[in-house]
Amino acid sequence: MSAVSPYAIPIELTNKSRLGEIDLNHVPFGKFFGDHMFVAEYKDGAWHVKGISPFKNVSMSYSISAIHYGQSIFEGMKAYKNSKGEVFLFRPEMNARRMNIGAKRMAMPEVPEELFIEALKTLVWIDREWIPASEDGSLYIRPFLFATDEAIGVRPSSTYQFVIFTSPVGKYYNEPLNVLIETNYFRAVKGGVGYVKASGNYGRSLYPTCLAQEKGYHQVIWTDSETHQYVEESGTMNLMFVLDGKIITPAISDTILSGITRDSIITIARSWNIPVEERKISITEVLEGIEKGTLTEAFGCGTAATIAPIKRIGYQNKDYHISSDYGENSIALKLDRYLKQLRKGLIPDPFGWVHKINP
Ligand code: PLP
Ligand code: COI
Repeated sequence: MSAVSPYAIPIELTNKSRLGEIDLNHVPFGKFFGDHMFVAEYKDGAWHVKGISPFKNVSMSYSISAIHYGQSIFEGMKAYKNSKGEVFLFRPEMNARRMNIGAKRMAMPEVPEELFIEALKTLVWIDREWIPASEDGSLYIRPFLFATDEAIGVRPSSTYQFVIFTSPVGKYYNEPLNVLIETNYFRAVKGGVGYVKASGNYGRSLYPTCLAQEKGYHQVIWTDSETHQYVEESGTMNLMFVLDGKIITPAISDTILSGITRDSIITIARSWNIPVEERKISITEVLEGIEKGTLTEAFGCGTAATIAPIKRIGYQNKDYHISSDYGENSIALKLDRYLKQLRKGLIPDPFGWVHKINP
């Protein structure tokens, strides 16, 4: 690869890779970071590409507005490698677009989609040795955008950084999930920023999630803040239920993140002639379905979580057990297997989602 990409991304390679310090196929989620990172700065109304350089700490003022007023958004995506050494990204343009939808809502500048994709591909290719090729392994990619004005006044920052770094990962969850339906605390409100991957959405979710974890649940299921009757999403995942042989999933709204995994599953399931309904789903419908045996599977879906089967749902001091063993006949397992193969370029891609980045 030439040292300068078509977008003139300056590249400074490390002379001391840290790759030898870890066992790529046995890494805790998100604790180790690839050798390189990408940085672009926004000032005077334009983006200035700083380039790719060794992953490092930086020095910044304690007064930057991202810290104080939360102008900070991020994306989550993955690069995959198969045993032939082919490297793939999955629908990266969707992440670029979603980040820009968020940027608009947060009064931040958009990052040109071509720059986002070019930076991503260049960085991932440089750190391709960091991609675990194991069945559940991948290189998690964290693009993010944050405000850097040094000022106390509450107003949109005039300067920003767009940064990408990577982290080799395996599974996010190692077991089927127990989740608690939450009706006291809310992740998102109508007219708010629930549909944005805004850092603050995650900060505010921690306390209720800790309370649920103290009670033995892995995660909460958020409900709508107006009626507290409808399920929305869970932790870092969208939700899917298999009810009467159909997949039902909460319709996207301004309180729910428009997941790329969710969208992919809906498209794949429909191509398999499995009916999918995107609509409001009440807590009662879910719990009655479990009790009657018509709700046969429930799972979360997301980039980090992949497809995470749900075994137990708690609501008002009662637990509801989903009977599925999520084995060979389950829709969750079929989707999970199919997606894994698709993302690694091991089966034909009828959707045009998989981008091979080998030159
Ligand atoms: N919902 C939330 C709150 C998330 O953080 C995520 C993860 O990114 C998702 C849903 C799933 O989105 P995606 O499939 O694009 O990763
Ligand atoms: C993702 O799935 O990409 C997420 O953003 C989850 C993350 C917060 C670990």
